[in-house]
This record gives sequence, C-alpha cells and structure tokens, in this order.
Amino acid sequence: MKLFSELKLGNITLKNRVVMAPMTRSRAIGNIPNALMAEYYAQRAEGGLLITEGISPSPNGLGYARIPGLFSKEQVEGWKLVTDAVHKNNGRIYAQLMHTGRIGHPNNLPEGAEIVGPSAIVAKGQMWTDEEGMLDHPTPKEMTAADIEHTQNEYVQAAKNAVEAGFDGIELHGANGYLIDQFINPGSNQRSDEYGGSMENRARFAIEVAQKTADAIGADKTAIRFSPYGAFNDLFPFEGTDEAYEYLAKELGKIGIAYIHIVDHSSQGAPEVPKATKDVIRDTFGGTIIYSGGLDKESAEAILQENENALTAFGRPYLANPDLVTRMQKDAPLNEMDPSTLYTADEKGYTDYPTLDEVSA
Ligand SMILES: Cc1cc2nc3c(=O)[nH]c(=O)nc-3n(C[C@H](O)[C@H](O)[C@H](O)COP(=O)(O)O)c2cc1C
Repeated sequence: MKLFSELKLGNITLKNRVVMAPMTRSRAIGNIPNALMAEYYAQRAEGGLLITEGISPSPNGLGYARIPGLFSKEQVEGWKLVTDAVHKNNGRIYAQLMHTGRIGHPNNLPEGAEIVGPSAIVAKGQMWTDEEGMLDHPTPKEMTAADIEHTQNEYVQAAKNAVEAGFDGIELHGANGYLIDQFINPGSNQRSDEYGGSMENRARFAIEVAQKTADAIGADKTAIRFSPYGAFNDLFPFEGTDEAYEYLAKELGKIGIAYIHIVDHSSQGAPEVPKATKDVIRDTFGGTIIYSGGLDKESAEAILQENENALTAFGRPYLANPDLVTRMQKDAPLNEMDPSTLYTADEKGYTDYPTLDEVSA
C-alpha cells in the first residue's frame, strides 16, 4: 500500500504517508511544553510526520486556555523535550504556528497581551476560560500597519525558535478561522488598506508570512494549512473562494514551501471542499499536498493512489490510537476517542490510550 511507503518532503524522508493532524490538547500549563507532552508525541512517532497542536508565536495569539507558545526561552527548552523524544523514536515533527487572532478571551492571555484581528469584527461564539467558564469573544482590536509587521516578525521569530528547538519544520495555521484565515476571509477582514478588499490583498498577510518565514528558515521547512469552504469560528465560504485558494497556491508554489495541507471538515458538518478545488490547489502549487478530514485506511489509500506527491493526515483516530500505523497495517480495531478529556489538563485521556500490545496483555 502507498500509505506505508516513503515520501521525500523538503530535505527529509518520511517513513510512511501517515501524518498526525494538528490537535490542540491544552496540557501546556503556563503555556510551556512539558514532559507529559513529550511522552504523548513520542508515543505517536510511528507516523511519517507528526504535526503539533497549534502553538502561538505571540502572547496575543494564546486565545485558548493552556495552549503552548514558542516565543520565550522556557518554551524553546520545553519543546526540546518533545522533539528529542520524537526523534529518539525515529519520528519527524513539524510545529504548527497558530495565532488565534480574534478567537480568544483576555482571561487566557498573559498580562499586556491583547485580542487582535484584521478588523474590529467580533466572532459569534464563546471561549472556555479556566477562571469563569464559557465567555463571549471580545471585539478584537483592528491591527495597525505596525501591528501587522510586528505580528509577521513574531511568526518569523517563532519559526527560528522552532528550528532551535529541534523541529523538522513549521506549518503556518492558515485554516479554521484563526488569524491568517481571518485575513483571507472577507467575513472578518473589512480593511481598506493593502491587506483588505481584493482577493490578492486579503491573501497578502499569508503570503508575506510564508515568504519571510521561508527566507529565515528555508522554504523546505515552511508549510501551511488551509480550510477552503471551512465553516468554523464564525467564518463561512465566500464568493471567490476557489480563486482565492488558486492564487494562494500559485504564490506559495513560487516560494517553494514544503507542502500545503488541505482541511476538509465535511465529515464534521462543514460544506465539502469540492474535488475540483483540491485539484486546482494541487496542480497550481506543484508540491506536496496533505489531505485531511474524516479519513480511514481505505479512503487515505484511495487518495494516495490518485495523487502521486501526497500525504494523508489523521486527527481523532490518531489521538485515540498511539499505534495507529500498526493498527492500520494489521487491520486491527481502533480505540474510541473519549470526547470528555480532549482539553483537560492531565494525562487522563492523553497518554493512557492503550496500544494493541497493551490491550492483548
Ligand atoms: C481535539 C482536537 C483539536 C484540534 N486542534 C487543531 C489545531 O490545533 N490545529 C488545527 O489545524 N486543527 C485542529 N483540529 C482539527 C484536526 O487537525 C483535523 O483536521 C480534524 O480532526 C479532522 O480530521 P479527523 O476526521 O481525522 O479527526 C483539532 C481537532 C481535534 C479533534
């Protein structure tokens, strides 16, 4: 099966096409990665590539409770525990850089940080805070030109920190209604400067961050995730969605980044990403594509049979099955995911999902 075959990605070779999708798990107490997180990722190192949970490049991007950052010395040291443990198990790992932008609550931010976005447009919905439970998203501060440049530099510094911490590369989170997506989507971007209005202007933030990051750490270590037709965090498909992602794919192809990761959340109720849209992104970009959303062994293999330079990512099945690759190879049954422990603070429902061997023992 192609699923278990190697693929060259940038300057590294992945041992199979199984990718662990990025998943926020909220175990980073004080926003600092720890030994428990190292154990969780090391348990899952069978996959060809692990992508971390969303990691904030900025104090302003820590919208959720207990998510990790990658802007302080302590955070870099914490991530070294994770990358060392994964590499020791012969795995590869990319850091997902996620700035939450308007999705957040000041309770979750360190002192002095603020909720920002392309425009002062509040997202409908609420955010969990450890102090007061669910609270409305606040209206974000509209980013000034100086804020935009500062934030872009935070991504670049976080990418350099990622390399220092031993990551094999970084994935910019340009999906699911977080900051980069907030710029792309006119539902959250009503700016009248060069970062708003036309499709090219709304794509500018993403392309500039990718270019600056590639300049700093290498295009072969820089990647991005998109969710065309996504309907999450109060953003929705917009007129010209296909054209916007075709344009992004073209510009990112020129930079030569390592991959574009496409999210299709139709298995969770979002509109389906039309096959034609995915094909245009693939053909226009010209590099590796990661496909994700609702996949199992069979559907992933079908995608790989049709797409030469491709990888397939698994979220919920990987979360509940540290030995997902072995289980798929043996056609063994999978553990069920426990939804009640997705974002809790300790090892329960995190590092205690059993492997096949442990089940039979
Ligand atoms: C608990 C949980 C946390 C998630 N956190 C993130 C995240 O931090 N960044 C991201 O890009 N996607 C995140 N996702 C989405 C997954 O990466 C993936 O796209 C989604 O689960 C669909 O794939 P699946 O059907 O294989 O689970 C998360 C999903 C889950 C279940």
